[in-house]
Amino acid sequence: MKELDSRFRGNDSGGNSMNNDLNWRYATKKFDSSKKISKQELDELLEVLRLSPSSCGLQPWKFVVVHDPVLRKELKPHAHNQPQITDADTLIVFCALKNIDEKYVKRFIDSIVQVRAVPKESLAGYEQMMLDLIKGKGPEEIVQWMKQQVYIALGFFLAECSHRKIDACPMEGFDPKKFDEILELPKAGLESVVLCTIGYRASDDHYAALKKVRFDKNEVFIDRS
Ligand SMILES: Cc1cc2nc3c(=O)[nH]c(=O)nc-3n(C[C@H](O)[C@H](O)[C@H](O)COP(=O)(O)O)c2cc1C
Repeated sequence: MKELDSRFRGNDSGGNSMNNDLNWRYATKKFDSSKKISKQELDELLEVLRLSPSSCGLQPWKFVVVHDPVLRKELKPHAHNQPQITDADTLIVFCALKNIDEKYVKRFIDSIVQVRAVPKESLAGYEQMMLDLIKGKGPEEIVQWMKQQVYIALGFFLAECSHRKIDACPMEGFDPKKFDEILELPKAGLESVVLCTIGYRASDDHYAALKKVRFDKNEVFIDRS
């Protein structure tokens, strides 16, 4: 019952409910591979990725959802053999586009026209602004910018996982080139950026009991009022 209450998302959840969630979560090292996330819950979680904000709304990302145990076994050695890769319920590979061009921006504009039922001409200024933004960046800078957007989605995703009491481990400890190769990402115009494994913690994951280590407020904030 208590667990159900903690999942309740009403207005009475208190002003600092997200802090409660963030204190509950930790980067899970050992998952209980017998515990599965329901399809409905996974779908709702993935919707958070789709709804995540990005610069100009351009969504320069894709998320590869990997359940296949054979594939995950193949990937594991390229992630320092971290057990989460195979033992978590789901592995998600957060990917950035390898390139973003005028065609992509035009497709995005078309989707705004369709969804909001606005004339295309009314978006001419917005379209030009996005094209200028892209043109103003060199190839490396644009890739870096797209990767930054992917991390925004990761942040929202981790927050939602903690809110639903689903355990997660964000992971940068992997070889992106190897992951790209195995998952055939270049063919799809993508490159892997960061991973997230999700599921339920093993009861003997001793990391779950460790105190959270964060710098004090006075080291984190600068008050210029
Ligand atoms: C972008 C990112 C990459 C991370 N990569 C790994 C990883 O490869 N393996 C791992 O076990 N933990 C990884 N972590 C977890 C961090 O070590 C962990 O979040 C940090 O120590 C703070 O602890 P907490 O999340 O338990 O509060 C990563 C975290 C982030 C945000």
